[in-house]
Amino acid sequence: MRKVTAIAPANIAFIKYWGRKDEKLRLPANNSLAMNLSNVFTITTVEFLENLKQDQIKMAGEKLDDKSKKRIVDHLERIRNLANIKVHARVVTKNNFPKGTGIASSASGFAALTLAATTAADLKLSQKQLSILARQGSGSACRSIPDGFTEWRAGNSSEASYAYSLYPPNWWDITDIIAIIGETPKKVSSSEGHVLSESSLFYKPRIEGMRAKIRIIKEALKQRNFKKFGEIIEEEAVNMHAVMMTSKPALFYWLPKTMEIILAVQDWRDIDLPVYFTIDAGPNVHLICQGKDENRVSQKLKSLGIKKIIINKPTNGARIISKHLYDGTRAFVG
Ligand code: PMV
Repeated sequence: MRKVTAIAPANIAFIKYWGRKDEKLRLPANNSLAMNLSNVFTITTVEFLENLKQDQIKMAGEKLDDKSKKRIVDHLERIRNLANIKVHARVVTKNNFPKGTGIASSASGFAALTLAATTAADLKLSQKQLSILARQGSGSACRSIPDGFTEWRAGNSSEASYAYSLYPPNWWDITDIIAIIGETPKKVSSSEGHVLSESSLFYKPRIEGMRAKIRIIKEALKQRNFKKFGEIIEEEAVNMHAVMMTSKPALFYWLPKTMEIILAVQDWRDIDLPVYFTIDAGPNVHLICQGKDENRVSQKLKSLGIKKIIINKPTNGARIISKHLYDGTRAFVG
């Protein structure tokens, strides 16, 4: 047994996952495409200890509710089953960004937990196996395992549903500037939102249009065609939110400030500032621009009165940051 610390980035989806074809296995209705983010991440330490009567889970700086705790314990249970062990674990985890605000804390959280806990349990899993396992904790977590720009293949079975790297982080110098608007956790989690998605009249046409959309975005990514890329990510974000807003019950993740930024982005393009937006399940807006325009976009956001922004470059997926061999009494660096 080892005490292992792993770090995993959150990711921003350009083509999004909203709705599942298998609830239990978390198989998505469509493929999705994302980029790992350099400045929003989770660091998680896991050690399995013989003397524990139950799993101990601590999230630094935040109180974990029972539902979130259970999700983590269920994931540890999957890992114990794979490793054929019965020992409980001590888990300490920390996000460097607010939870439940549409920055995918469940993605970075479950990716870091998967890597730290499987390594601590001496399992030697391939990147594909790690991605499959992370997906079962939180769908989008599977995209935080491989590097850079990733695609999650929806698949028709658990083994066929995982993310892989399309391009490394240095493929394209683009920036995601997150405008933080709301820091209060959302009322309806994305896990619950997926279940509601099918109740929207727009859900079916959305899924039917996915193959074509994915073909276009992959071509834009390959050619590094920023305009084509930007147009499709905006269309996609609005499409997903249209499904959310027309679900029964309706889900409104946007705040007035979200809309203000959307309109401003259109104006900025008119004055020759190429920038596009995308939004996950929360009010915060991700502004995607080319590296050369990063400062101009940040200044523009400040002029709108946005006080907190997080600037992200594409980055690698989950990785180990420390590993200690453990003999049951004391730790030594391995
Ligand atoms: O993995 P979940 O259940 O947190 O769902 C993520 C949903 C979105 O962030 C809205 C879209 C996506 O593909 O990341």
